[in-house]
Amino acid sequence: MYPAHPLDAVTHPDPYPYYAALARGAPLYREPALGLWVVCHPDAIRAVMRHPAARVRPPDAPVPPALCPGPAGTLFGRFVRMNDSLPHTQLKGLLTDFIREHKPGPETMAWPETGALTANAIDRYLAAAPVHAQAAFLGLPPSVYADCAADIGAFLSSLPEVSAGPKTTAAHAAAERLQGRLESHLLAPQASPALRRLSEAGMRANLAPALLAANLAGLLFQSCEAGAGLLGNALVLAGRRGIRGAVSDRQAEALVDEALRKDPPVHNTRRFLAAGMEICGQRIEAGQTVLLVLAAAAMSEPESQWPFGALGHACPGAELARRHAAAALAHLLRTGADTVSLAARLRYRPLPSARVPQFDFPKEPSQ
Ligand code: HEM
Repeated sequence: MYPAHPLDAVTHPDPYPYYAALARGAPLYREPALGLWVVCHPDAIRAVMRHPAARVRPPDAPVPPALCPGPAGTLFGRFVRMNDSLPHTQLKGLLTDFIREHKPGPETMAWPETGALTANAIDRYLAAAPVHAQAAFLGLPPSVYADCAADIGAFLSSLPEVSAGPKTTAAHAAAERLQGRLESHLLAPQASPALRRLSEAGMRANLAPALLAANLAGLLFQSCEAGAGLLGNALVLAGRRGIRGAVSDRQAEALVDEALRKDPPVHNTRRFLAAGMEICGQRIEAGQTVLLVLAAAAMSEPESQWPFGALGHACPGAELARRHAAAALAHLLRTGADTVSLAARLRYRPLPSARVPQFDFPKEPSQ
């Protein structure tokens, strides 16, 4: 059966025929069940993304209110992903250059400890491995990878909260540690040449080191859920193919690329209208939220990079994400993960845009 609506599709066992039908037949419509405008055709998505009134955050809540005031709110508000206009363009250029130029040291990779490969251990590995890989890329010492992963986890789990509580308290503490850790790393005398160029370019553009450091933490943040989805979906694909045991780097990369094409980790993103706009002859009023269904656009333009977004806010980490997912997958297969059994029993974490498989969940109550 088709998913009920595009948010239901993210966790549906096989949403792709539905996405293809949306891309063909429903380029743009209002979904009453969600109170959202839904945009599925690549041209319409690009038109929304280009429109100056389409913002990445609701204009009246640039930071989730439950995180304010405090370090988690400050960190969130500094992320390039959460800003438009000048702060966004300036930071985006600097971060993109940094990602392109930075050459991580010869550090051997320290992947998350899995212990016995239970379903729960695999779920934890999926979330932590992309952060470990990104922390290694940034040149952080292996002794802090696991702390980074735990802090990003605490920060992420506070985002859906609607009011302050234990999760937001934990997120403030995590954000403070992340900010401090990345700021010391950026300003350390032994910082890599690319980090030094980032600081200098920041200085010339009048961007404070605290803002740059927050965005290095932002790279850890951005890599987590999407990275878990890419790794997890590639793992499921391996299981469906009967692939287990050690694989070559080439095989791991091929699985990751196939996951990007056939079972991508990010299905949608949102834009919030600061003013009314007209798209495909349809008027959408200020204050409305538009769901851009990247996974539907990918059905009409399969060779494009839709899983990584497009235009101004497109992901600068796409290549890293592919490399890191392949390396994390190869490591997990080497450690003996039973991909076939994993692929035989899974569901998807209940997230609004990332498709991340989950292997540890209670048995369905018997009928
Ligand atoms: C499987 C992995 C990943 C996927 C599928 C993915 C996907 C995306 C998408 C769809 C966007 C655009 C959001 C929008 O337009 O609203 C985005 C933005 C972003 N991604 Fe990724 N991403 C992944 C991994 C990474 C990694 C590893 C990094 C870090 C190097 C990263 C850094 C960013 C940043 C900084 C932005 C914000 C860019 C901006 O706002 O201009 N991503 N990502």
